[in-house]
Amino acid sequence: MTTMREHDLVIIGAGPGGYVGAIRAAQLGLSVACIEEVSALGGTCLRIGCIPSKALLESSQRFLDARDKLAIHGVMAGELKLDLETMLRRKDQIVTTLTRGVEALFKKNKITRYLGHGRLNGLGRVLVESSGEPLELKAKSILIATGSKPAPLPGVVLDGDRIGTSTEALSYATVPEHLIVIGAGYIGVELGSVWRRLGSKVTVLEYLDRILSGMDGELAAEAKKVLEKQGLQFKLGCKVTGTRVEKGQCVVEIEGQVPTLSDRVLLAVGRVPNTDHLGLESVGIKLHKKGSIPVNDHFETSAQGVYAIGDVIDGPMLAHKAEEEGVACAEYLATGRGHVNYDAIAAVVYTEPEIASVGKTEELLKENGIDYRKGMFPFRGNARARTINQVEGWVKVLADAKTDRILGVHIIGPHAGDLINEAAAAIAFGASSEDLARICHVHPTLGEALREASLAVAGRALNF
Ligand code: FAD
Ligand code: NAI
Repeated sequence: MTTMREHDLVIIGAGPGGYVGAIRAAQLGLSVACIEEVSALGGTCLRIGCIPSKALLESSQRFLDARDKLAIHGVMAGELKLDLETMLRRKDQIVTTLTRGVEALFKKNKITRYLGHGRLNGLGRVLVESSGEPLELKAKSILIATGSKPAPLPGVVLDGDRIGTSTEALSYATVPEHLIVIGAGYIGVELGSVWRRLGSKVTVLEYLDRILSGMDGELAAEAKKVLEKQGLQFKLGCKVTGTRVEKGQCVVEIEGQVPTLSDRVLLAVGRVPNTDHLGLESVGIKLHKKGSIPVNDHFETSAQGVYAIGDVIDGPMLAHKAEEEGVACAEYLATGRGHVNYDAIAAVVYTEPEIASVGKTEELLKENGIDYRKGMFPFRGNARARTINQVEGWVKVLADAKTDRILGVHIIGPHAGDLINEAAAAIAFGASSEDLARICHVHPTLGEALREASLAVAGRALNF
């Protein structure tokens, strides 16, 4: 016999969208349940995405610093040795700590957790499929937060080992001699950097004629230059037609070129919404062409009482975007109001130096015929950057030519991922470049470079 339970809100998926939405809804007094099919909570981000990748980026950069960058400070470290096992263990421990932290937050907020696969079973009903007793949940509202999965590429057969996705690349047990990455996007440059720093030859094959598609063109071009100096090899305009493992080697076939050999292949050509066996047909939801769930401004799908957020709907596939939507959707359900300011959602690529963007790119402004002024400031003119020996890169501020309102900020440089939050705040508050320029920034800090780029919009940078 099927057991029935009832909650105000049932959320399917405990990634950053689902678990944050659950907490906010519980804070607002709803009785909330969250179904997650993996035993650890936290979704792609905590288990196999943001967190483990950032842990490895940090460790691999420490390795590189010890090898190449300490002597300049007069610090002589002696013989250098890589203990990959310890590096991987540290990453796994961070993941465990954080996923357990989400468990604790669920308990604190009295969120009921169900372990199993959630499937819609008509309006207001969700089945929890697991090896245990049959269970069905009834709810006034159902929130789909099932995230995304790696996009496949025709001809590339993943074997879960040598030819794999980011999930495998977060746990290679040995440093590959030659790693071929297919796709020069976020994952390609981040995980490509990790293994390059640890000693691999890394070749990144990209279909387009540029890297980091979608980001500001000048920013991406600078990133390519900097990453190439670090030894990443980019081959642009490459159409990969297939991969196979032959005599212990990976063979990558590229249209019009001789096949390339490597010992590992990382497929990173984007991610696609995850709607596998979700029972959408039982409530009549039809997907967009690219597989995402259509929603309106309040995250409502075409089915009454069914909502969706995060990677499974349109928009950038970023953890903080999913979280923001989780909060807004929970607030809408509990109070009738809830809003996300998509103009102020920044994106960061955690290479060294970091690459960060918020607002419009120059390409987009030109495309839309918006007149703008541009201010740039290089980190080599920033005193703090000199003291930390990280002078590569610059800050670019784009402001409306008439109103001076900040439309976009693009940074490549040290701690760009932290600096961009100030730019996001400026955009959220509708600040002008002069507003930002007139805020006294602490000296010596990297943030002064953002102020100087704002001054540069009016041609009055002080230190360059
Ligand atoms: P997810 O995090 O994918 O969570 C969905 C959850 O739903 C999963 O736990 C899944 O098991 C569960 N689920 C799916 N279907 C069902 C079902 N039917 N029943 C029960 N459970 C189900 N973003 C950033 O902002 N910063 C980063 O630094 C960053 N780094 C990344 C690095 C990598 C290698 C990858 C792959 C991604 C990275 N991302 C990063 C992207 C980020 O992980 C996602 O945007 C984010 O996790 C999306 O959140 P979500 O809640 O929509 O979905
Ligand atoms: P991506 O969309 O960032 O980049 C994919 C790249 O692959 C693009 O440059 C695209 O042109 C290229 N490509 C597509 N088809 C190709 C083909 N046939 N051959 C060669 N290249 C091809 O996707 P990626 O790197 O897989 O990451 C997925 C998503 O995960 C990102 O878009 C981002 O939303 C998220 N992510 C975010 C991170 C962050 O915030 N720091 C880090 C890692 C992932």
